[in-house]
Amino acid sequence: MNILVTGAAGMIGRKLVDALVAQGHLGGTEITALTLVDQVAPVLPDGVPGAALAVDIADPAAAPALIEQRPDVIVHLAAVVSGVAEADFDLGYDVNLDGTTQLLRAIADQDGYRPRYVQTSSIAVFGTPLPDLIPDEQPLEPLTSYGTQKAMGELMVNDLSRKGVLDGISLRLPTICVRPGKPNGAASSFFSGIVREPLNREEAVLPVPEDVRHWHASPRAAVNFLLHAATMDLEPMGPRRALSLPGVSCTVGEQIAALERAAPGASKLIRHEPDETVMKIVETWPRGFDPKRARFLGFEAEPDFDAIVRVYVEEELDGEVPSFG
Ligand SMILES: NC(=O)c1ccc[n+]([C@@H]2O[C@H](COP(=O)([O-])OP(=O)(O)OC[C@H]3O[C@@H](n4cnc5c(N)ncnc54)[C@H](O)[C@@H]3O)[C@@H](O)[C@H]2O)c1
Repeated sequence: MNILVTGAAGMIGRKLVDALVAQGHLGGTEITALTLVDQVAPVLPDGVPGAALAVDIADPAAAPALIEQRPDVIVHLAAVVSGVAEADFDLGYDVNLDGTTQLLRAIADQDGYRPRYVQTSSIAVFGTPLPDLIPDEQPLEPLTSYGTQKAMGELMVNDLSRKGVLDGISLRLPTICVRPGKPNGAASSFFSGIVREPLNREEAVLPVPEDVRHWHASPRAAVNFLLHAATMDLEPMGPRRALSLPGVSCTVGEQIAALERAAPGASKLIRHEPDETVMKIVETWPRGFDPKRARFLGFEAEPDFDAIVRVYVEEELDGEVPSFG
């Protein structure tokens, strides 16, 4: 089986590649080639068959060259994040919309080819006013460029799946928390920062009140969503191929309480510094979902935020919780 992953050098992409390499198969079929694509050269581990390519997916020549190889499974993760897509209209539409449609049209151009196609969408496809628990039937009404680009990608995957061009699915990931690495400048960055920075003995800035509620899942849950989506039977979904996925709905205060349970004293490193601009953006975001359809189809996330903190400690701190005594 030949698997193509775009955005393979990104946070989720790297973890997905690690999981694919570790298991060596997908859905019981041996992985014979992994083609990793990203604007930033991805890394293909030694001894793994395939290729690691530095490619700009917004380049119209990119998709036909990648799809000519007729990969059995395509996981499309490459995108610019919400803040960038909002600030740079051309870049957002070039990468998130054109990069996606070029890939989908290149698939359609191959005769007798119907790959499994998995792409990541976002809860930003929904716009205010939003109920506390967003149902599966919530209409797509994005209020940002990023959400609009993701919603258009979802519609195209529905259409091409209906036409039998591909067997596709779009996954509306919760906010992935705790994101490893450095703060990334996204308005949502603090949701990870208030856990990650204290656990790394650094100060974190909290720009919103503790009663702000949001929807989270761990990077490990994200990888499991992708692996499940790449192997499950999609026929029961019919023509509606986009799913809001399970996650944990919790307040910032509940996040901090979970951090304290894992590492008593760590929350002293969180500095409250209210930021009206961040607050105005965050006010418009989903607080929770009732993802019945995804649960019925076998998607699972962590049961609570304590479990999300444990994933960070296991994956990024070698299981060692620092002491703040
Ligand atoms: N992390 C989250 O909380 C979250 C939530 C919802 C949806 N998503 C979606 O999941 C996917 C992966 O997210 P992530 O957190 O790993 O993001 P990330 O920013 O870490 O990774 C995205 C990757 O895409 C690559 N990329 C950007 N423009 C490109 C281009 N023109 N050509 C080729 N590669 C390009 C980047 O270099 C980066 O490595 C994205 O589609 C994102 O929109 C993420």
